[in-house]
Amino acid sequence: MNVLGIESSCDETSVAIISDDKLTSNLISSQDFHSKYGGVVPELSSRAHLQIIIPLVKDALTKSNLELSDIDLICATAGPGLIGALLVGLTFAKGLAFSLNKTFLAVNHIEGHIFSGFLMEEKPEFPFLALVVSGGHTLLLLVNDFMDIKKLGSTVDDAAGEAFDKVSKMLGLGYPGGPKIQSHAQNGNADKINFPIADLKNSFNFSFSGLKTSVLRHIQKNYQGTNIPLSDVNDIAASFQMAVVKALIRNAEKALSEYDVNSICLAGGVAANKALRNAVITLGEKFNKKVIIPAMEYCGDNAAMIAYRGQKLFENDVTSTLNVSPFPGLSADIFS
Ligand code: KG4
Ligand code: ZN
Repeated sequence: MNVLGIESSCDETSVAIISDDKLTSNLISSQDFHSKYGGVVPELSSRAHLQIIIPLVKDALTKSNLELSDIDLICATAGPGLIGALLVGLTFAKGLAFSLNKTFLAVNHIEGHIFSGFLMEEKPEFPFLALVVSGGHTLLLLVNDFMDIKKLGSTVDDAAGEAFDKVSKMLGLGYPGGPKIQSHAQNGNADKINFPIADLKNSFNFSFSGLKTSVLRHIQKNYQGTNIPLSDVNDIAASFQMAVVKALIRNAEKALSEYDVNSICLAGGVAANKALRNAVITLGEKFNKKVIIPAMEYCGDNAAMIAYRGQKLFENDVTSTLNVSPFPGLSADIFS
């Protein structure tokens, strides 16, 4: 069985092919030009997806040694994401499926991230605790099997990745903020500034907007519009990063005390963060749980996770019609 996956929810166009359960291509084209605007410009993103999607599909087929006619199942991200960006990949996939008379499946991007650990050699074991941390979402989930996902908590305001991006902007480091904050944090003292971590009692929810505001106040109070010395930038980055990691780990730890799981999976763009990866590994050691963290190419947006999730839906008798529309938000009906 040959599965084609297409991802275009934000600023990465990606095409992947899974042949007989083996990932044979996962091409990712990143729209780096957004950095000069300080964030993703939706209209430019849609146009860039449109330009690259056909060559990328051709390249993926060549890499996997396949013809378009060899594809059995076509999967594409339907949401959440930028509506114009989603429209490009989803409409293209639907058109391809219609013209080739192949099965089409719409995939939820977040579900792609949740199961991205299965792209690794060592797989998660059900039930597992999933911490999905991206630019748009921060979710703690109990995953009982491929078709049974329970949301334990989510952010009530900013996503963790969004907080990284906004703090990076405040420090004049640019977009995307995560990797920039991480590299400055490496040379900083994480104990220098005690940024607050929101504690939403009796819930597994997160909040990052207070932390973000507190970084802003710290900058306004101490530098009043003047340049921040590099060593201070490093200390702020390190202290902020530690606060985010602590907030994420605290809720994951709370969930582990309440739910008996076999594995812990970290996923999403922020899962590329070394401090977070290390903290999740330490958490796994503490609770004696298997920890699965995807390789870097499966942390950020990629089509391998969309093809994988699509195939699992297909195996579980889920079907999509060609009438499916893109959806920008999380689509609450997906998680129980
Ligand atoms: O999953 P993703 O690629 O796209 C969304 O679905 O949102 O996540 C992108 C987010 C951005 O906010 C980016 O700043 C963050 O992931 N990110 C990181 C790191 N690499 C990317 N955050 C912290 N540390 C990193 N190394
Ligand atoms: Zn994502």
